[in-house]
Amino acid sequence: LFAGQTTFLKGVVAMSGLPPADRVEVCFAGRSNVGKSTLINALTGHKALARASNTPGRTQEINYFTLADSHYLVDLPGYGFAKAPVAVVQKWQNLLKAYLSGRPTLRRAFVLIDARHGVKAVDREILSLLDKSAVPFQTVLTKADKVKTPELEKVIEQVRASLQAHPAAFPELIVTSSEKGEGIATLRSTIAALADS
Ligand code: GTP
Ligand code: MG
Repeated sequence: LFAGQTTFLKGVVAMSGLPPADRVEVCFAGRSNVGKSTLINALTGHKALARASNTPGRTQEINYFTLADSHYLVDLPGYGFAKAPVAVVQKWQNLLKAYLSGRPTLRRAFVLIDARHGVKAVDREILSLLDKSAVPFQTVLTKADKVKTPELEKVIEQVRASLQAHPAAFPELIVTSSEKGEGIATLRSTIAALADS
């Protein structure tokens, strides 16, 4: 699947702008700056297909990428702190929530958690929203290269414990580093295994 072409389709600013719900769709959600756009680049083998930056709030639209003409990869705006005006942030947060609870073909939401920080209150809010909307989700730890093994193990335990309260959660979490390539193959095969039906 990931040997095929990935192309940018469109940036969406309102639910009415979503493309037809006609294929398997997976999305990447998480706090601002957690590494969503960078992970999409690592998965697809591109350097700058999705725009990443050190400034939280870089992605402000729902960005659709077409993967091998059979899947959509969806890069979402972050939640939590962002360097953008309050009214603008509010608008994209509302869109994010509408998307996460109202997209029929959304097969799995990957919720990214920074390996240095673990699950925060804003993450729990999103996880609860996914539960309520019955969107299956799986957590992905990012930036594993930034923490030492004992610290990583502690965060893994914390995330696992948090997931028990969430019926829509997959118990397995995927540890990644877009920087080092860790976990990228696992995530690719996880996405490829989401059969069309
Ligand atoms: P928003 O669009 O603002 O919500 O952020 P985002 O979640 O898309 O984060 P983005 O991909 O823009 O990455 C934020 C910063 O983290 C960038 O400076 C990336 O280079 C860095 N980063 C992302 N993934 C990794 C990683 O695995 N390791 C390291 N060391 N840095 C990373
Ligand atoms: Mg981004």
